[in-house]
Order: sequence, then C-alpha cells, then structure tokens
Amino acid sequence: MLAATTATSRRGFAAVPEAEDDDAPGDIAMKGVKLQGAPLYLDSQATTMLDPRVLDRMMPWQLDQFGNPHSRTHMYGWEAEDAVEKARGHIAALVGADPREIVFTSGATESNNMALKGVAHFYAERKRHVITLQTEHKCVLDSCRYLQQKGFDVTYLPVQPDGLLDLDLLRDSIRPDTALVSAMFINNEIGVIQDVERIGQICREKGVFFHTGEGTGPRGAPRPPPATPHAPRPRPNPRSPEPLPPPQTPPRPWARSRST
Ligand SMILES: Cc1ncc(COP(=O)(O)O)c(C=O)c1O
Repeated sequence: MLAATTATSRRGFAAVPEAEDDDAPGDIAMKGVKLQGAPLYLDSQATTMLDPRVLDRMMPWQLDQFGNPHSRTHMYGWEAEDAVEKARGHIAALVGADPREIVFTSGATESNNMALKGVAHFYAERKRHVITLQTEHKCVLDSCRYLQQKGFDVTYLPVQPDGLLDLDLLRDSIRPDTALVSAMFINNEIGVIQDVERIGQICREKGVFFHTGEGTGPRGAPRPPPATPHAPRPRPNPRSPEPLPPPQTPPRPWARSRST
C-alpha cells in the first residue's frame, strides 16, 4: 500500500533515481510511476524497518563474533552457540514454550512449508485432508496447492465479513480424515486477529493438528509480561545419549490474555 506524499523521506538520497530534464524538483520516477516526493510506507504489518536496538545488539555477531554455532571445535563456534541458545530461551519465554521446542528457520515461508508438508506427508497413509483459510498467506496457499497436486484434499474456508473464521463452520468441516488445520494468527494484509486459542481447542477436541503462522504475531499482538528466560538447552552428548528430561511447558500468559 503506497500513498504519494511530499513528506521528507527517511531514505538516503542514494536510492533515489536521477531526475530527468523535465522533472520538477522532488519528482521521482520509477518503473513508469512518477511521484512528487518519496511515498509513505504503510505496509509495516507485512515487513517493517529493523528496530535500531536489534541492529545494535546484532552488530557484534556480524562483525566480531561471527562463528558458526555448529562449529564444535573452536571458541568462535562456542560463543556463537551460547548466543543462539540464549536467544532460543528468550523466544521460548515469549511464547510460553520449552526451548527444545524452538526451531530456527530462515523465515515464515520455510516454517509454514515445513509444518504443512511435514504433517500432511507424515500422516498421509491415514489422513489426506487439510483445512485452511481463503485469506491465508500466499506461502500457506502455495503449500496447500502443492499438497493438492500430491493427491491431498484441501478445504479453503471463507471468512466472515469481519475477516474472522466462523468456528462452527470450522467444527463442521473437520472430517475423520482431516490431518491438519492451518489458520494464521494475524492477517498480514487486513490485520484481523483470529481466535487461535478457540481454534486450537476445537482441533484438540477433534484430534487434529493445528498450525498457525505467527509471522506477524509477535510484533502485532499484545505483549506477554516479561518472563524469565529458560536456562540454556543442555548440549546432547552423542557418545552417551542420555534422554533429555521431558519438556516443562510453562503456562502461556500471552495466549491466555487473548482468550475472550
Ligand atoms: C503472516 C505471514 N506469513 C508468512 C510471511 C512470509 O514471511 P517470510 O518473508 O519470513 O518468509 C509473512 C511475511 O510478512 C507474513 O506476514
């Protein structure tokens, strides 16, 4: 969503194309569109400027402590691994999970692909039906189309005029062969917040997996109260693999606070 404006842009002048001869001062022409001044960016729900505090915290890891956290034989790897485990604990505390349940990916597209295709293929022998929303993110819809090409049946549920999923319709659409329901938390285009707690309850009652894309969630949702991060994950010893203690899932204050 772009709105033309003469407001001063935050952007550096280096990115602004050279003015043509007949351009008035401040004119910008790109890809056949001519604007008076740089446009305001109004799509921060989808992708937004990096918080400078994040940039500050990340700079040492980009420039000085750049080791690979999977390098087990030297100090650069160890310090990177410690930092990754600390970050894993912070994220686990944010969503009320055990750190061992947090898996880092390259982004939401990869996570959504992994969840949808992973669950569908794993249960393909017994269950071949997936439910999602017509308003889902493109990467979820694309994954569903892929599953259809592989012979899965996908139901694309409509949403109500307010953008919310009709929970009775969801309940009625779950079949004995439904493996998975996928419904995003906060819509990246219209900002509607689905009642993921109720959707999750319905899925649990019906014995189907529930996947939610929270690509927009952590920055758009009400914040949980600050929680104490979990202790770093113990390093598994491949030579004497002792089973890890069962995950202690703390209450999810974030999810509970949204339950009405
Ligand atoms: C809800 C949602 N899902 C998925 C994505 C895709 O995310 P990524 O660019 O990290 O793959 C986005 C991107 O903004 C999103 O908002």
